[in-house]
Amino acid sequence: MSQTLIAFFSMTGESYVSGKLINLEKGNTHVAVDMIGEMMEADQFQIKTVQEYPKGHMPLINYAKEELNHQARPKLTREVINMEQYDTIVLGYPNWWGTCPMPVFTFLESYDFAGKRILPLCTHEGSGLSNSVADIRKICPQANVQNGLAIVGGQVKESQAILKEWLKTNQLL
Ligand SMILES: Cc1cc2nc3c(=O)[nH]c(=O)nc-3n(C[C@H](O)[C@H](O)[C@H](O)COP(=O)(O)O)c2cc1C
Repeated sequence: MSQTLIAFFSMTGESYVSGKLINLEKGNTHVAVDMIGEMMEADQFQIKTVQEYPKGHMPLINYAKEELNHQARPKLTREVINMEQYDTIVLGYPNWWGTCPMPVFTFLESYDFAGKRILPLCTHEGSGLSNSVADIRKICPQANVQNGLAIVGGQVKESQAILKEWLKTNQLL
């Protein structure tokens, strides 16, 4: 039987949503992933780092830039047990500085994704997927990495139909 894993990284705390700085109890990507979870059967795995990220927006922006510049691979708190059982991975992440947050790359380098299908799902504040899909392909050259879906963070809650259509297009519904 084919099985899907929804793996995602998402922040809580201060975030610019539609140009306003607000406090998110659940990150935009997390909200999108939960909506998918309600539409289809899939296991969920939240990518979390041992070293917590700064909660304030500007400190986070600067911290993430440093990580990008150093191509950091922050250590993750836990692992997916039995990655072999999944043939499709919906990979949710925010656009950070034009690519995925570095912990998403830690995640991608932790398993063998050869022959698996990866569906990137990116939330952003205007840049769309940027380089994220190309970067995922570089790290997982033997995976079947699809073109991905980008949703503006502030529009996630109204994206039910878009998400549904995307899952249908990818034969998950
Ligand atoms: C460190 C950092 C860098 C970001 N860089 C970009 C960017 O380059 N382009 C963009 O459109 N949005 C950028 N954003 C906005 C996020 O992609 C957007 O707010 C996203 O929906 C956050 O998802 P989350 O709430 O699941 O963490 C950035 C946000 C942060 C915190």
